[in-house]
Amino acid sequence: MKVTVLQFQPKLLAVQDNVERLSPMLEGITSDLVVMPELVTSGYVFASLQEVRNVAESVPEGASFTRFAKLAQERNFSLVYGFPENDEGVFYNSSVLINPDGSYHVYRKVHLFDREKLFFQPGDKAFDVCVAKNGVTIGMMICFDWQFPEAARSLALAGAQIICHPANLVLPWCQEAMKLRSLENRVFSVTANRTGTEVNGNTKLSFTGCSQILSPLGEVLLRLSEDEEAAITIDIDVERALDKRITERNDAFKDRRPELYRL
Ligand code: ACM
Repeated sequence: MKVTVLQFQPKLLAVQDNVERLSPMLEGITSDLVVMPELVTSGYVFASLQEVRNVAESVPEGASFTRFAKLAQERNFSLVYGFPENDEGVFYNSSVLINPDGSYHVYRKVHLFDREKLFFQPGDKAFDVCVAKNGVTIGMMICFDWQFPEAARSLALAGAQIICHPANLVLPWCQEAMKLRSLENRVFSVTANRTGTEVNGNTKLSFTGCSQILSPLGEVLLRLSEDEEAAITIDIDVERALDKRITERNDAFKDRRPELYRL
């Protein structure tokens, strides 16, 4: 199957402008699954709850969701992207999978990073998988969720073949750490990061780019540069993620000893 990672620099608080710039990038893609960054519609460095309120959307009514769902149908791909979600006045840092047939699944970020805690509620649903185009099982986690191996592990145990990982990374470790998340779980992972620097009031953050697609052995199949905006597609054999064997006598899942672990 074809998998695409899209790296982008959103303009802060300019949802319409961001969707207008993302749309032609998406229109040019032939793929089965496209992954875009965290909060790709809005940017990241909020200074007030009112700013979040102004850019947050509910699904499926939101204008960005409507536009992206139409593109997913026209281009016949599944699409994962991050956005600020408004659920009746409660805000979540969410991602959504939209399939070409219009079906969708929302994930609300469980592990909020730093100032996100000022504006968003943490997700409270167990990590679970959902089905993308052609019956491929995917799991979603967002950015700082990488720090907690339980997130990727839970998704893999639930059957994820690809971990879709929208991100706005600011710390330097994730891209290397995700090699282990892929390897220990024997799954593909797609980290779609953003680029650029954002300033709002006293807060300034620079994002690390280097979006990547990793194999179930943690190999880097594709890595973008720190600062480019691009959508790159590669072919993967997604069935590889169903094989958890390590040696003739070892299996990454069957050899687990959960009764001895402290979680
Ligand atoms: C992050 O979780 N956006 C760093």
